[in-house]
Amino acid sequence: MTVRHFLNTQDWNRAELDAMLVQAAAFKHQVQGSAMQGKSIALLFFNPSLRTRTSFELGASQLGGHAVILVPGQDSWPIEFELGTVMDGAAEEHVIEVARVLSRYVDLIGIRCFPKFQDWSVDRQDQVLRAFAQHATVPVINMETITHPCQEMAHVMAMQERLGDLRQRKYVLTWTYHPRPLNTAVANSALMIATRFGMDVTLLCPTPEYLLDERYMATARCNAAETGGSLTVSHDPESAYRNADVIYAKSWGALPYFGRWDEERPLRERYRHFIVDEAKMALTRQGLFSHCLPLRRNVKATDAVLDSATCFAIDEAENRLHVQKAIMTALLEQPVLGSA
Ligand code: CP
Repeated sequence: MTVRHFLNTQDWNRAELDAMLVQAAAFKHQVQGSAMQGKSIALLFFNPSLRTRTSFELGASQLGGHAVILVPGQDSWPIEFELGTVMDGAAEEHVIEVARVLSRYVDLIGIRCFPKFQDWSVDRQDQVLRAFAQHATVPVINMETITHPCQEMAHVMAMQERLGDLRQRKYVLTWTYHPRPLNTAVANSALMIATRFGMDVTLLCPTPEYLLDERYMATARCNAAETGGSLTVSHDPESAYRNADVIYAKSWGALPYFGRWDEERPLRERYRHFIVDEAKMALTRQGLFSHCLPLRRNVKATDAVLDSATCFAIDEAENRLHVQKAIMTALLEQPVLGSA
């Protein structure tokens, strides 16, 4: 028996993603539903959350289902992920048992597990999410690991609400300063989903050290080739912002410095001026602005930008609820592959 997971949007074709977006729009108008009647989802949070936790828990409830929230190591046992290891450390049980047991109780499993920020060659394997997908017998949803596909869906839904067809719209993913090196997940996801929907994408970052993992750069280039969009890299805010339709901001740590963050800090400190402000937004074509949230005001974007009518970050956050209900519905309605 094979089940289909929602680990990345790239695993789903455009028709399937479009169908989820149509379903999400329907849920936005008709909040209550029955797609999860008698069903449940376990939500495992290895990292904090406001939006993801609230929207998944509420979404399951609005569809007639039930969500169980677990924080491994706090309100459930610490979990081991290495195969074949002698478990004489802190972990009390292995992901094999955790995934198999939860699969007997619930119909869906959501996983949030950020990188450890010590070794990108390890983190890029997405070991925790992959282990749950391998050992669970129910669909697994990526609630943000090294990509954030639920955010992608909410983001594209919010852009379509404002712009309609996204093809050939100029989309700028801009790195912004943050006092700590952050996850590249939303940036990886932004590149993939914007190119997937045929946008002309500019990745604006201070220096080549801030380019994203080649896995996602290459995926974005392939997407662009298929959809008629494009992917350009820029280190110059003025030309990148000029005539943009959408500015999407995110901060992330430079991959070549992964695990050596004290060495990265002086480089990052030089680019505080990458903040999204009114002067830069004035270069756009009455451009829209968004961010996945949480966001530090007047560090990543100014109050004026965040409070302007062109900011759709709150719409995007709301859409997390609607798209996740569509994702859960699609996963529960899927035919079971490989069954007799
Ligand atoms: N954007 C997002 O995933 O928000 P949370 O970290 O609050 O869940």
